[in-house]
Amino acid sequence: MKITVLGAAGNAGSRVVTEALSRGHEVTAVVRNPTGSNNLPTSVKVLTGDAGNVEDVAKMSAGQDVVISAIRPDPGNKSETVATTNALMDGLAQTGARLLVVGGAATLTVPGTGGKTVIEDSNFLPVSARHVGKASADQLEACLAETRVDWAYLSPAAQFVPRERTGNYRLGTDELLLDAEGNSTISMEDLAVALVDEAEQPKHHRTRFTAAY
Ligand SMILES: NC(=O)c1ccc[n+]([C@@H]2O[C@H](COP(=O)([O-])OP(=O)(O)OC[C@H]3O[C@@H](n4cnc5c(N)ncnc54)[C@H](OP(=O)(O)O)[C@@H]3O)[C@@H](O)[C@H]2O)c1
Repeated sequence: MKITVLGAAGNAGSRVVTEALSRGHEVTAVVRNPTGSNNLPTSVKVLTGDAGNVEDVAKMSAGQDVVISAIRPDPGNKSETVATTNALMDGLAQTGARLLVVGGAATLTVPGTGGKTVIEDSNFLPVSARHVGKASADQLEACLAETRVDWAYLSPAAQFVPRERTGNYRLGTDELLLDAEGNSTISMEDLAVALVDEAEQPKHHRTRFTAAY
């Protein structure tokens, strides 16, 4: 498949690039700053572009099967987060490429709390980080309003950290997935596995899903 990765030099995006390449896909890595490409494998095609620029998005996604966005929205800046997501959608609507978004856990409901979301539960998101959760909530809201593009929004577990690739994960929908110890975790490597699995065998359309151990 032809896969474009936005935010390819970032923590999550670089894992997606590695996973997609390991499965033989043709990967285009998008960075805003060319120096960001220094740590990317030489086998990827690198493009410079901004997800908030409709023309850039149309160019980066033309002829691609899937675009995976692993950009980090600016914390708590609703207008910028929504404008960037809308520009991304406007660009993709011109090319018909499918979109998979690496989103946030903030809006997942916490089991056993009567519907409290992660952003409201300091056991999973410290109050000091709520503005970050708010940005990902704005991002999801903007995706949910989109009806032209075939998108899916993947919320990681509450703990989303660089670690080993196990190839294992469970999928859910709108509720935080907890392990036997009550923790919510997934490595960036295994979220990349879930994303590339979804790219290869689409199961989610215009909806949010979640992955965790
Ligand atoms: N548990 C959780 O819910 C959780 C935890 C961590 C992260 N996340 C989510 O995971 C996603 C990726 O996070 P991360 O930690 O991998 O972020 P990161 O390491 O900061 O990387 C983000 C990348 O996005 C790029 N970027 C930002 N705005 C862009 C734009 N307008 N156009 C093109 N590229 C842009 C940045 O490029 P520059 O270098 O040019 O700025 C950077 O390479 C985010 O949506 C974040 O909210 C969720």
